[in-house]
Amino acid sequence: MSFPQRFLHELKRTHHNYELTAQDIGKEVVLMGWVQTRRDHGGVIFVDLRDLHGITQIVFNPQINPAAHSEADQIRSEFCLGIQGKVSPRPDGMKNSKIKTGEVEILVSKFEIFNTSPPPPFAIEDDTETNETVRLEYRYLDLRRNAAKAPLMLRSKINQIIRSYLNEKNFYELETPYLTKSTPEGARDFLVPSRLYPGEAYALPQSPQLFKQLFMISGFERYFQIVRCFRDEDLRADRQPEFTQLDLEMSFVTQEDVFKLMEGLWKKVWKEVLHLELPATFERLAYRDAMEKYGSDKPDLRLSWELKTVTELFKKSDFKVFQEAAQKNQRISVLKVPNAESLSRKDLDDLTPIGKTFGAKGIAWVRLNDPQDFEKGWQSPISKFFSAEEKTQLLKATDAKTNDILIFCADTSKIVLESLGHIRLHLGKKLKAIDESQWKFAWIIDFPLFQWDAKDNRWVSEHHPFTSPKPEFFETFADQPDKAYADCYDLVLNGMEMGSGSIRIHRPDMQKKVFQLLGLTEADIREKFGFLIDALTYGAPPHGGVAFGIDRFAMILSGGQSLREVIAFPKTQRGQCLMTNAPSKIPDQQWKELHLKVSKNID
Ligand code: AMO
Ligand code: AMP
Repeated sequence: MSFPQRFLHELKRTHHNYELTAQDIGKEVVLMGWVQTRRDHGGVIFVDLRDLHGITQIVFNPQINPAAHSEADQIRSEFCLGIQGKVSPRPDGMKNSKIKTGEVEILVSKFEIFNTSPPPPFAIEDDTETNETVRLEYRYLDLRRNAAKAPLMLRSKINQIIRSYLNEKNFYELETPYLTKSTPEGARDFLVPSRLYPGEAYALPQSPQLFKQLFMISGFERYFQIVRCFRDEDLRADRQPEFTQLDLEMSFVTQEDVFKLMEGLWKKVWKEVLHLELPATFERLAYRDAMEKYGSDKPDLRLSWELKTVTELFKKSDFKVFQEAAQKNQRISVLKVPNAESLSRKDLDDLTPIGKTFGAKGIAWVRLNDPQDFEKGWQSPISKFFSAEEKTQLLKATDAKTNDILIFCADTSKIVLESLGHIRLHLGKKLKAIDESQWKFAWIIDFPLFQWDAKDNRWVSEHHPFTSPKPEFFETFADQPDKAYADCYDLVLNGMEMGSGSIRIHRPDMQKKVFQLLGLTEADIREKFGFLIDALTYGAPPHGGVAFGIDRFAMILSGGQSLREVIAFPKTQRGQCLMTNAPSKIPDQQWKELHLKVSKNID
């Protein structure tokens, strides 16, 4: 093949492929793009030429230009072309009212094949049956599909809106290092071994947490960054090993100041992306209420069903399982599923395995065929053990009606709330009780400062160790860590955690106390966080911030099901890039330069 490549030097593109209409008839135009389809109709070759925004039909007619027509014979799908020609009306009966350019076609006078293409492994079409593995292997071709491009274009728009909003609010967009020291966000670090310092490594940041605090100490007052974070954790549909945060920090603020600014941001994004008006303020929900009512710290508030705690009611019950749980001061909760007559016996039995995955020993149910008929109207394997008083009280607590189903779990609070929280969502989806048209934002507030890690027998931070206790616990948190609440918050949307942040500790003595409580020795504190403690001693201002998952926002705003759809070159669920085959084997020489050796029994 020759490489003439003169076309681009002689001719400039005049239009994009979505633009030309009957008004342009007679114009001489230059278009570029890829061959969507090629059809040969009795010697005349028709090509749908696709570019980023649309399709225009081009025609190679032997009567108009025999040389161009004969060369066009080799054109196939996904060849890349530049063409020059005249805009002509399509003959009657050949018009396509579905596309803007459907009234015209271009009679080609000159063209160049910029590049050929073998038949692609799948057709470049919006609706594709091709499985994701193949599409990820050829992601550059997958992204030729408009349906695959759209979420990334939307993501670009979201980033622009964020930048313009924060710029207006006097935030500085500052960068922080990727080769750094471990910042604990609760996941495993990705490490980068050092060539210059044998046995030492950088950690890729799980977030820029400490650097953004240092910016506040430097006096920047308002910082943001749209930044890649790295976490070596088990992946799920809403988790990637590298993901992007909108990371923010502000000085001299309270939690409410952060909320107000951020509500303004997401309101603007919803307005500009979806043309929807969000409420001026988002709901605030205490962590404890979220857990007790919805069995989740990221409740899906599009579903109105709530759990009720009914422990007291069963203190003297004849149903042993409940009586024992109540006596042991465990929890008994009930979920009322309204209008549940379509749930079969099997659907109800299937709830027990769901509960089991969260540690529940059992899940009980009552089908209320007639709530007032205590003898025959309560259908259940266990209600025969309930007294009339218990039934009366249950109806009062749940306000249950005919055809409602009550679902019970008795165990420790954690097991009960998690089990019923998941069952709530499972049945909400099954009964189509979730209103998909809604956007239910909520700030979850009033988290405990610490959690007891029974496995390792120690306190861990509920958010991260840099989070401030609420002021009323400043004096007491070290002696009564189980009682202290934190000045931290999550932003939840339709059942997904979208962001998380806190007011930070800005006093070195308090920061040290927290580290000590978490089990760090004086030497650990110096080694890991000496620079932070030192920095806090130099007049660190009160500060706080938040970080949002940009991939999650892009996914939810584009109506996607997986983060992979909004990441240009994503990793699979197993952390691999199918296109480049990363991670991949490293030659011995490279390991050697890093002073590392792969243990023999790996191969
Ligand atoms: P956190 O660890 O909660 O907080 O992260 C903030 C937000 O980032 C998103 N996110 C993820 N998205 C995709 N894949 C992942 N693996 C992943 N992990 C987290 C979530 C989450 O809400 N430094 C603190 C923030 C702060 O205190 O300001 C932090 O990183 O949407
Ligand atoms: P069992 O005593 O295991 O035969 O259980 C009798 C009924 O009680 C079954 O319907 C179980 O699903 C239910 N059940 C058992 N343990 C619990 C529990 N911890 N919470 C709620 N229901 C339970």
